[in-house]
Amino acid sequence: MKKNILIVGANSDVAQSLARLRAENGHNLWLTGRSLEALEPIVSDLRVRCQVEALPFIYDAESTVPEDLLLALPGLPDEVHVAFGYLGNPNGIDQASEASRIMTVNFTAAVLLMNSLMHSFIQAKKQAVMVGISSVAGDRGRKSNFLYGSAKAGFSAYLDGLRNFGYAHGIHVVTLKPGFIRSKMTAGLPLPGPLTATPQQVAKAIEKAVRKRKGRVYVLPIWQAIMLVIRTIPDFIFKKMNL
Ligand SMILES: NC(=O)c1ccc[n+]([C@@H]2O[C@H](COP(=O)([O-])OP(=O)(O)OC[C@H]3O[C@@H](n4cnc5c(N)ncnc54)[C@H](OP(=O)(O)O)[C@@H]3O)[C@@H](O)[C@H]2O)c1
Repeated sequence: MKKNILIVGANSDVAQSLARLRAENGHNLWLTGRSLEALEPIVSDLRVRCQVEALPFIYDAESTVPEDLLLALPGLPDEVHVAFGYLGNPNGIDQASEASRIMTVNFTAAVLLMNSLMHSFIQAKKQAVMVGISSVAGDRGRKSNFLYGSAKAGFSAYLDGLRNFGYAHGIHVVTLKPGFIRSKMTAGLPLPGPLTATPQQVAKAIEKAVRKRKGRVYVLPIWQAIMLVIRTIPDFIFKKMNL
């Protein structure tokens, strides 16, 4: 069945790989970004290469009201992917605006948007799939990125709860937890090769999670083991570690 797939934050490297993969499967893509100029070449490429409907929409997590995005869409999508995220200044405690942006983009806006979509799906009795890209950074607060990590922790908990809430309505929710990804977000950072996924690997993991109706997914399985160990380190040791 041909689906209408909404990807929010579609200019992200992960989202672009996902859009390409899903278009190759013959699905239509509704892509949002902060700039139509940035989206145009992406949608044109999908239309020409994959002969699918690809439409661009504006969405900025800091200024777009979710209902306005939903009104702009041609209808309700069958599948939604919330891919946007903002790493920002890892700690940024001396800049209220930076802390606020990290929390707004990674948590508040993502939650408000998914709430609106879930509400609309229930009203329309539509059995949709919703995917949120969270992060292993949310599995334990670390001194190196506690703002981003805590926003993602909140988002992971929200997605897990939303999955339980959506179950009775036939709506499936995936909590995706990548470790490191080689993308614009991590450009210039030293990344450990074997622990780093490509955007293509993340896209394949998402497609598989949707197809197999998985709940919580670590993109590279090794990260599940790593985070299990990290979560069990006692606080009195953890606070002295350089993580
Ligand atoms: N990279 C990693 O190591 C890593 C690890 C774990 C989880 N993740 C998560 O994976 C997802 C995809 O990230 P990525 O690695 O593909 O990085 P990316 O290429 O930098 O994508 C991040 C996207 O978020 C968008 N964005 C930022 N602020 C926004 C706002 N206010 N409103 C709307 N969109 C906004 C950016 O839009 P513009 O294109 O307009 O700048 C960009 O397209 C994110 O949720 C990220 O947190 C990444």
